Order: sequence, then C-alpha cells, then structure tokens
Amino acid sequence: MKLFDVYPINDITIEKGLGSHVWDNHGQRYLDMYGGHAVISIGHSHPHYVATVSGQLATLGFYSNSIKIPLQEQLAQKLGAVSGKTNYQLFLCNSGAEANENALKLASFHTGRKKVIAFSRSFHGRTSLAVAATDNNSILAPVNETDHIIFLPFNDVAALTDCFKQQGNEIAAVIVEAIQGVGGINVASSDFIQCIRQMCTQYAAVCIADEVQCGYGRSGDFYAFDRSGETADIYTMAKGMGNGFPVGGIAIAPHILPRHGMLGTTFGGNHLACAAAIAVLDVIASEDLLSHAKEMGGYIIDSLMKIPGILNVRGAGLMIGFDVPAELKELRKALLNRKFIFTGEAKPNTVRLLPALNISKADADEFLTALKATISELTTTNPG
Ligand SMILES: Cc1ncc(COP(=O)(O)O)c(C=O)c1O
Repeated sequence: MKLFDVYPINDITIEKGLGSHVWDNHGQRYLDMYGGHAVISIGHSHPHYVATVSGQLATLGFYSNSIKIPLQEQLAQKLGAVSGKTNYQLFLCNSGAEANENALKLASFHTGRKKVIAFSRSFHGRTSLAVAATDNNSILAPVNETDHIIFLPFNDVAALTDCFKQQGNEIAAVIVEAIQGVGGINVASSDFIQCIRQMCTQYAAVCIADEVQCGYGRSGDFYAFDRSGETADIYTMAKGMGNGFPVGGIAIAPHILPRHGMLGTTFGGNHLACAAAIAVLDVIASEDLLSHAKEMGGYIIDSLMKIPGILNVRGAGLMIGFDVPAELKELRKALLNRKFIFTGEAKPNTVRLLPALNISKADADEFLTALKATISELTTTNPG
C-alpha cells in the first residue's frame, strides 16, 4: 500500500531528537526553530518527559473513560493553577481540530444558537465545524459548507460591533486566535480582544480562544488571549500540550454547565496522554518556561529587527514571524539545506519561528548568525 500524498515534504528522515536539535538518518544535526510545527514545547526527548511517559506505559497505557482516572484530576489541577483558571472545567480530547469542534458544539448547546463569528486568515482545523470556521476555501469540502459561519476582518472593531448590533441574538460564539499562526503570525490588538469579550458578554455569546498554537506558554503568557487583560469562556489547546503525544483539551468557564451526552470521547484523557501532559506542565513550572519564552522571544525579536533585508518582524514570546522580500524567496530552503535549520512558513512570504520554549541563548544565537550569513549569501548571488 502506498501512503496518501498529504503534504509536500522535505526529503529528510529525522531519527533522533534532543532539546532543540534533531538528527537525520545520516547523522546530520539540525536546529529545530519550527518545534515540529509548534508541538515541541519542552524540547525533544526531555528526560523528565521520557521517564514519566515510559513509566506510565509500563504501568497502564489506557483504560476507558467509564472509570475514574485520577491522572485527569491531577492534570486539571495543574492546568488550572498554571493558567490561573482554577474554577474552569476540563474536557480532554486528542487534537486541535477536535478541541475546536467540541468548543463550538458546546457553545451551541449552551446558547441554543447556530451562528459563529470567525475571522479572516483564521485556521481552526480540518474537521467539520473547525474547517468551516477556517478562512481557506481550498480545504473546505462541499459537505463542510454552511451558512452558520460569519467571517469578519481580523482586528476590525467596527465590523465586529456592527455585526453584533445586527444579529447579536443569533450568535452562539466568537472563535479567535489571539495570535494567528497559519494565517502568518498576526497579533490581535488589545482593543479587538476587548471588543470580542465585551460583545460576547453583552449578547450572551460564548467567547472561544483558540490557543492550539498560540497557547500553552508559547506567547510568554500561558494563554495569548489573556495578554489583553481579558478572559475567554472556553480555551482550546493541543499542540504543545503533550510535547508530541497527541492530546488536546478545552478549558470551560464555570457558567457553562455540563450535561451527559453533550461531549464524549474514546481516547481523550487516556492514561498515557495525561502522563505526557502532566510531564509538560511539570517542566513548564520547574524550568520557569513562561518567563524564559518571554525573555528569549524578546531577545530574538529585537535581534531580528536589526537584521537588514527582512521585513515586518512580529509576534510575542516564541511565536515569531517575519516577511521575506522576493529576492530572498529561497531563504527557508537555504536555511534548511545549507545551515541545517528548520523553520516554519505561512503563505505567501512569512517565516514562522516556533522553537521549544526552553531554547537556549546559544541556540538562538546559532539561528541568528546563520540567518544573517544566509541573507548575505543570497543577496550576493542575487543582487537586486
Ligand atoms: C490555531 C490552530 N487551531 C487548530 C489547529 C488544528 O490542530 P490539529 O492539527 O491538531 O487538529 C491548528 C493546527 O495547526 C492551529 O494552528
């Protein structure tokens, strides 16, 4: 059987990882400024993570949600404490799309309404409602088309207020990435987040912060939405939560009441997933990774701003983007093939940096030095 051709891929086979580095099958070492797509939060093969996950596997990998799973309670406690949301409720699932799907469904159950506001350049996943709320028609199958989603321009307070004035009583939820990832590291303004919060409160709609990529400490705050001094009703999370183990979740405000049958899952919250997620939170606390992400992110952003040739440096913490002009369009490829550095991209011309939250200054400097050298090599080859 052949593999279904899902992505355009690099001809590289990664076999081993440690911290912010990975090695291919020829022993070549790479610096991972992409974090395996924002997934590697505490570094590859972190010893505490390896010990916790392997210890759990040797004891019990899985049993169903029909029995008590104290690891889920432990995870909920730790997550509540680190995020400052001790009175929220946790529902565990397996991926980012699933987290958003459940959040949107719950908002509709809670309000009895059908309409959802999403924004231009949003990405919320590839399942039915999540993909319908994603601003990319090319990944929308005909069966996913729906009139329930209203797309508004990102960061446009007037458009949002206007929409609520006209149909606020039909809106079940607003779903927003406080820093858009796939859309190109677009940071929501504080005014915009505050307006979303205010409109949701005024019209009793559910405010959903999609923190799948920008959350879990990536921005230097646990939830990027909270950087504006506001609180969402539901936070969705995945990527960094399990450092590579598939685990997702939604944190739900106390006024949204559960009813059996609303949500459910076979694999969500299994023993191994909880062990992985607990290990990640332990390391976030013991290595003070929120402060580290803020500090290292500030250092990288300041340094990038001084590099001639790249444009529009932006982001927060270790979620950083910059644009490359046409003459440097081969920059990512050159960084990978000549300097052995993985970076992320966003169409049409953005480089996305999403390294592990505990990246060292030496690794950040290795990246910055290689970036400067590559820009200079490409400019010499391609003047003007
Ligand atoms: C903001 C955001 N939401 C949701 C998703 C979907 O997550 P998953 O691929 O785990 O379903 C992604 C994935 O890139 C994302 O960036």
